[in-house]
Amino acid sequence: MSSKPIFILNGPNLNLLGKRQPEIYGYDTLDDVERNCAAVAAEKGFEVKLFQSNYEGGIVELIHRAREEACAIVINPGAYTHTSVAILDALNAFEGPVFECHISNVHKRESFRHHSYVSLRADGVMAGFGVEGYALCVRRVCSLLGGK
Ligand code: DQA
Repeated sequence: MSSKPIFILNGPNLNLLGKRQPEIYGYDTLDDVERNCAAVAAEKGFEVKLFQSNYEGGIVELIHRAREEACAIVINPGAYTHTSVAILDALNAFEGPVFECHISNVHKRESFRHHSYVSLRADGVMAGFGVEGYALCVRRVCSLLGGK
């Protein structure tokens, strides 16, 4: 078990979660996601910290911060999933478990969403489980890192 938190990182437009295209992403907000993930983590003796940035460099810097401060990363990189070598490179410089989480089933959507740079690093990928996917990723991190 780790005394460091699990970082839950969110990319562009996810600050609008709950308001943006609810037919695809639902009505829960990032605050709801943080609350659910914190509850799941607490059962196993872990903590979470949730961040969001609309900027590619902002996400890269959060991943750098995770190198020192986090035991694992759960990341929904939003549209940068499909474009960002910089985020992939940053994740490759992080040593703990990385889980990629998409609220929607990206494979059922436009073909440009079918490729993920982040999947080249991720230890697991969640897609199409709605916001519940985040908590499922957290559960997996806790069992991998041996929570109580
Ligand atoms: C997303 C899927 C991406 O293709 C999209 O650009 C997002 C959200 C998801 O959670 O389903 O912003 O990552």
